[in-house]
Amino acid sequence: MKHAHIQFFILILIISQTNCNRSGKTGQGVSSSFRPGETWYDIDSIPINAHGGGILYYEGVYYWFGEHKIEGTAGNSAQVGVHCYSSKDLCNWKNEGIALRIIEGDPDHDIARGCILERPKVIYNAGTRKFVMWFHLELTGSGYKSARSGVAVADHVTGPYIYQGSYRPNQNVWPLNVTDKDKEPVDTSINSLTFTGGYEPDESRDINILGRDFITGQMSRDMTLFVDDDGTAYHLYASEENRTLHISQLSDDYLKPAGKFVRIFQDRYMEAPTIFKHGGKYYFIGSGCTGWAPNAARSAVAESIWGPWTELGNPCTGPDSALTFHSQSTFVFPVAGKEGAFIFMADRWNPENAIDGRYVWLPVNLINDKPVIQWMDKWDLSYFKKDNF
Ligand code: GAL
Repeated sequence: MKHAHIQFFILILIISQTNCNRSGKTGQGVSSSFRPGETWYDIDSIPINAHGGGILYYEGVYYWFGEHKIEGTAGNSAQVGVHCYSSKDLCNWKNEGIALRIIEGDPDHDIARGCILERPKVIYNAGTRKFVMWFHLELTGSGYKSARSGVAVADHVTGPYIYQGSYRPNQNVWPLNVTDKDKEPVDTSINSLTFTGGYEPDESRDINILGRDFITGQMSRDMTLFVDDDGTAYHLYASEENRTLHISQLSDDYLKPAGKFVRIFQDRYMEAPTIFKHGGKYYFIGSGCTGWAPNAARSAVAESIWGPWTELGNPCTGPDSALTFHSQSTFVFPVAGKEGAFIFMADRWNPENAIDGRYVWLPVNLINDKPVIQWMDKWDLSYFKKDNF
């Protein structure tokens, strides 16, 4: 009897290991390792389609939510929705289907086919027992002018997520760090200016976008969500024509802004924000503003989420670090059960064939309180057992 048990367990072990290596095409490549920049397959051997994504760890399972993209340049706008995958080991990803579907047959709907729906992030609200998704939303046919945040809610982690609405956050609210100058009457001639998306500082650098948008709500483009140890959630978004990031507290139900926010990295043109916490400190990693083209990442640290934030420079080191290894940040998450282990998630965009954007995941080392990211062609979670980690 005992012997049969042992045989059974060996069989299970072989099956589970083989699962991680199936036909050389599962997980992140040929093994249970991460292969940044290569095509990553789900457990059905189909390339993972979850760009600009984020991870929610819930009841022992990682859920990866990201933009489902299609082939060609058409994939740069939303044709399907937000895709969800699940995994217990970050290696074998099960396709959980489309968590939030765009609306067909109503071209006027906020999330109609052809809108821009980017960087979805999901958090769980223990009070309401709802899963709450936020994303960057641009209404169909308006380019990147809408600069809104959309919200969707689900009873089950994998969805379906039901669209709740979208808006520009913090209407009629001044930030905690507002100055008297910010409150001065706004020169209305700025309404006729054309902004490029803020990829480069220009002659309009000193104009008061915060004041301009006080009544309508603040612009919100690239974004992420962060839940602190006490359950308070925060929304970080690129605002003010991409010049300045905002950190904005969410209401207890996570569905709207709580009416408390700060401006950070003023006029620094940062986007693709990520945030994580370790040893009581808050760390930020983001990018500069160059559209789909990669640039050097930025990092920062703060003792309080409200700041002051101290910039720490480019966290990437080694060859191609000036281009974030040809990628752009999207999320940083802690590895469950491994104290101090964080994974940096980034996208290697391919705007000509959006579906073939690649994923770059690398460990974040905190060296002297500064995040450091090194390229590795291949790595696995045993990295976090290293002595120097
Ligand atoms: C990037 C941004 C992406 C997407 C792209 C469009 O800067 O991070 O999410 O919006 O611009 O050009």
